[in-house]
Amino acid sequence: MKFHVLTLFPDMVMQGLMTSITGRAVQQKKIDIDAVNIRDYTQDKHGRVDDYPYGGGAGMLMQAQPVYDAYRSVADQFPENAKKRVVYVTPQGTPFTQQMAQDFARQDDLILLCGHYEGIDERVLEEIVTDYVSIGDYVLTGGELASMVIVDAVARLVPDVLNNEQSAETESFHGNLLEYPQYSRPEVWHEKAVPEVLLSGNQKKIESWRREQSIRRTLERRPDLLEDASLTLKEQKFLDSLLKEQGESRLKELEQ
Ligand code: ADE
Repeated sequence: MKFHVLTLFPDMVMQGLMTSITGRAVQQKKIDIDAVNIRDYTQDKHGRVDDYPYGGGAGMLMQAQPVYDAYRSVADQFPENAKKRVVYVTPQGTPFTQQMAQDFARQDDLILLCGHYEGIDERVLEEIVTDYVSIGDYVLTGGELASMVIVDAVARLVPDVLNNEQSAETESFHGNLLEYPQYSRPEVWHEKAVPEVLLSGNQKKIESWRREQSIRRTLERRPDLLEDASLTLKEQKFLDSLLKEQGESRLKELEQ
């Protein structure tokens, strides 16, 4: 899979992504990352890529021409009728999710467009963008970090990017549950002992304890996820008992 990042700050993107697991994946040719400098495509003799917005208002806008030509430099590498996926990262986009990452991971190529200043001339967005994606309800200074987040989340789903021990399957959000707590050596640290069941060697018991912990944690931290979680009948009963406990302790708080 190849990621094409259209940006005014290619060094920022490459430095961030050429380290750690994504960097190794590039070296091993499991993925490829190409940061395209939008400024290289401006026709302005002073190298400018931004201008004032018509109608007034604060800040500058990235102009359509250099963004479009940078996009064409990538799009022209594909067969003419190839379906292109072009993601514009913007706080006005659809919130990014694991499911979206899985969807993007099915593409051979993914083009990400990073905005700066007050945004990009709407006309070029209309022509080239297929997906508007936000990485959260806050505003960054530019789209680079958001693009890097998306590349990272998608890259780890590409076959063989993670090694066997780092399976993308069993982690947080699998089955819409958060991951259970984990412990390593020593057995006691700061007077806190590792839960006994994990030392029991009884794999079935451990599995069931971990599932319960996942449910407990999801209820505490992200109850919104539980609606779509896949639970067995027994697990649903466990969740019901937790909810009942929660209700009872709320009642007690109200009585005090
Ligand atoms: N650009 C600026 N802020 C952003 C956000 N929250 N998500 C995606 N792109 C952005």
